[in-house]
Amino acid sequence: MLNKKIQTALNDQINNEFYAAYLYLSMSGYFKQNNLAGFAHSKRIQREEEIAHGMKIFDFVCDRDGRAELGALGQPPNRFESPLDVMEQALEHERAVTAKINDLYELAVKEKDYPCQALLQWFIIEQVEEEASALQIVEQLRMIGDSRAALLMLDRELGSRTVAE
Ligand SMILES: [Fe+2]
Ligand SMILES: [Fe+2]
Repeated sequence: MLNKKIQTALNDQINNEFYAAYLYLSMSGYFKQNNLAGFAHSKRIQREEEIAHGMKIFDFVCDRDGRAELGALGQPPNRFESPLDVMEQALEHERAVTAKINDLYELAVKEKDYPCQALLQWFIIEQVEEEASALQIVEQLRMIGDSRAALLMLDRELGSRTVAE
């Protein structure tokens, strides 16, 4: 049986993951409108990954005989200034998610919920990857500066990204 505090915190995290999916879909739309199909594709893949994250927690709550309560999704930003602006916001978002996962882990330790700690260990490692890949693209966009040719090369590279399992 799932403790109430943990259940509430996990339900919040389900919402955070689905919001992230919504955010990345919005970002994907920006790239599509700006003819950067590779960037658009990579954000669409990330959207799928965030849904899988949300489902992982949803299934965990159900399996622990808890109640998965779904809240309203916030509105994601719909205006972006540049590819760098999008990726800086994506990085900032991932850093905020990492902080939330860490807080959740702290709660699971305090409440001595061992299965929840095991679940969250997967998320802790996943966040290291998510931050690293967002940071890499931010840094590459900074190197690229105003070079359209280099931007198109990066776009082509991002077009080959596949869903991570
Ligand atoms: Fe996630
Ligand atoms: Fe993420």
